[in-house]
Amino acid sequence: MSHVAANGPMQQLEEWDDFVAIRYRQGKSEEEFRNYEADANPGVTQFYRQNHANQTFEFVLQKKAEYCGLTRGKKSVWEMAEYLNTLVDESDPDTDLTQIEHLLQTAEAIRKDGHPRWFILAGFVHDLGKVLCLYGEPQWAVVGDTFPVGCAYSDEIVFPEFFAANPDSKVPKYQSKFGVYEANCGLDKVHLSFGHDEYIYHVTRRYLPEEAQYMLRYHSFYPAHKHGAYRHLMNDDDERMFEWVRKFNPYDLYSKGRERPNLQAILPFYQDLIAEFFPKQIDW
Ligand SMILES: [Fe+2]
Ligand SMILES: [Fe+2]
Repeated sequence: MSHVAANGPMQQLEEWDDFVAIRYRQGKSEEEFRNYEADANPGVTQFYRQNHANQTFEFVLQKKAEYCGLTRGKKSVWEMAEYLNTLVDESDPDTDLTQIEHLLQTAEAIRKDGHPRWFILAGFVHDLGKVLCLYGEPQWAVVGDTFPVGCAYSDEIVFPEFFAANPDSKVPKYQSKFGVYEANCGLDKVHLSFGHDEYIYHVTRRYLPEEAQYMLRYHSFYPAHKHGAYRHLMNDDDERMFEWVRKFNPYDLYSKGRERPNLQAILPFYQDLIAEFFPKQIDW
């Protein structure tokens, strides 16, 4: 993926996805993963600098209050997908997938493996929370690996050294192992850095099974689902449900680069699927 301009609105979104895919390239060892800095271009490094410095406990509470009450109006799932699709990388419109194409590729790969319909649908909606960018949120508040705030940062988070610039790193109660949480309290009680995962979880939670809710809410929580960090905050339900988060992850990471989905051919399938689980319009 060759980008020229480094400042388009889509630039870092794309770069973060690409970076994660390279980091977890199939067959790459844990040790090779440790060299992730070599795979990161200056844009990605800069992105993590901002993300780690600005995602404070206070910031997360603020953004959840702002968006998770779903007060931004009603739209159908398909309308939101089309709205998200207006985010395009103008520097390279020919080789990059549009947002809808990424969603359809993910969903189609799940479908080809014979998974249940709710699983396919989770694939289709998983990145719709990126509309936060269109609401005016900066990239570092929308994408990036997520991590708990209000307790010690794990070394399994990429670029942990950038947390030195986060004001929370100077607050002792936020830097103990459990921080403001209790042992094995369950992730539902834990605040993760804010982004598209949390938002789409709240938008869709009433309509999708719990397995899908976990996939959506935690798909960027790589420190936990890839590296096993933060188990001291997880409960038995989380442990069980993370099997599904791990089942989902390869479809998100590795469906890129497959052939472009033929939208006209598969559109009716997806319209039926959306109508099966969602009312015509939902709150965003
Ligand atoms: Fe995502
Ligand atoms: Fe994705």
